Amino acid sequence: MKDNQVNIGILGLGTVGTGVARILLEQKELLRTRSGLTFNLTAISELDWNRDRGLDLTGVHCTTQADEVLNDPNIDIVVETIGGYEPAYTFISRALQNKKHVVTANKALIATRGRELFKLAEENGVDLLFEASVGGGIPIIKGLREGLVANRINSIYGILNGTSNFILSRMHQDELEFDQALKEAQAKGFAEADPTLDISGGDAAHKLTILATLASSAFVDYHQLSVEGITNITKLDITFAKSFGYTIKLLAIYRALENGLDLRVHPTLVPNSHLLAAVNNELNAVFVNGDFVGNTMFYGPGAGERPTASAIVSDIVDLSRNLDQHLTNRAVHLDRAAATVPLTEITNRFYLRFFTLDAPGILSKISGILGEHNISIASMVQLETHEQDHYVPIVLLTHEASEQAMAEALDKIGKLDFVRDNYLRLRLF
Ligand code: HSE
Repeated sequence: MKDNQVNIGILGLGTVGTGVARILLEQKELLRTRSGLTFNLTAISELDWNRDRGLDLTGVHCTTQADEVLNDPNIDIVVETIGGYEPAYTFISRALQNKKHVVTANKALIATRGRELFKLAEENGVDLLFEASVGGGIPIIKGLREGLVANRINSIYGILNGTSNFILSRMHQDELEFDQALKEAQAKGFAEADPTLDISGGDAAHKLTILATLASSAFVDYHQLSVEGITNITKLDITFAKSFGYTIKLLAIYRALENGLDLRVHPTLVPNSHLLAAVNNELNAVFVNGDFVGNTMFYGPGAGERPTASAIVSDIVDLSRNLDQHLTNRAVHLDRAAATVPLTEITNRFYLRFFTLDAPGILSKISGILGEHNISIASMVQLETHEQDHYVPIVLLTHEASEQAMAEALDKIGKLDFVRDNYLRLRLF
């Protein structure tokens, strides 16, 4: 950086890259006033230049060759907004090796290959920042690294995937079917290129891996998480959850237990009285408990051009202020691996939904198996059916029970010939 001028190159002019370019062009004066620095959008590499993005790129070097950004000696900061694993990984590595600072929104890459990339950044004396990788426009990374730095983080409950939250909200509020709601989320541009990542819980798990690494100050391996998505939830489950006073949310959960971290992503019945139950549509929220601060909640848009770009530019400014003072962030310590507690060792309250024949003795058979496994029933509902096959939905809410015991009991119940195998087990908050 020379004369308070910061030169920026963008890799990928999709939704998020376009937002970053727009802020750098439209908010130049605001950013100068606030930071004392001038941010110059110097170069952009993008393969598809045919689309009109409503940007005036006069004076910006526009190319299809990433190398022209990565090797440009005048560029101080490279913004990676391509997404996915490759070529993003190769480009970020090359930028770091060329001693350029990097800002990215790439949660999949940070969660799975972050360790190598942070090491490379450290070896080259540059920063790799990733505020936009979790919670879109919500400043949750800075919240954990700076605002809550004085706290041990006891727990995090996050709604971290906008697409899943949108689908579940539309199913709750407008009684839409799953597929219909997913199509809407895709049309609105929240979903990943492959929406399987959203609805399988994978995207939320990437984000939880990043939060857990920061919260625990130890490296969390993505594969240590237990992950379930929302694909098995039906309109019927939404109706049952409502009748019990709950809203179903895909939660990313971090709990610091005595013997390690409990890290899970799964659909959860959240009581309607909890703030997280009121987080709807594509919005995200992160409910954090720190030992000194107590409960805090960060809330806002978790996806989309403008919010995600807002987070990226916050990293650009943050990084440039540090450059001005010859500092680096270096707040990700990956030399210590986090210990995790396997799912089978924890307890939860459960929601169970079965379709069973409507015949004498069936309920007692199911409750008997649960009882044998020390699982106590808290409430139960059975709906009448007028269908010919006499299969009826039965829903049970349990008291706190062991995950291991529940898995064993369900294995037995699922094998009963009067129970259909499409049963569902959810957890309560
Ligand atoms: N597909 C992601 C979501 C985009 O729905 O939350 C933001 O990371």
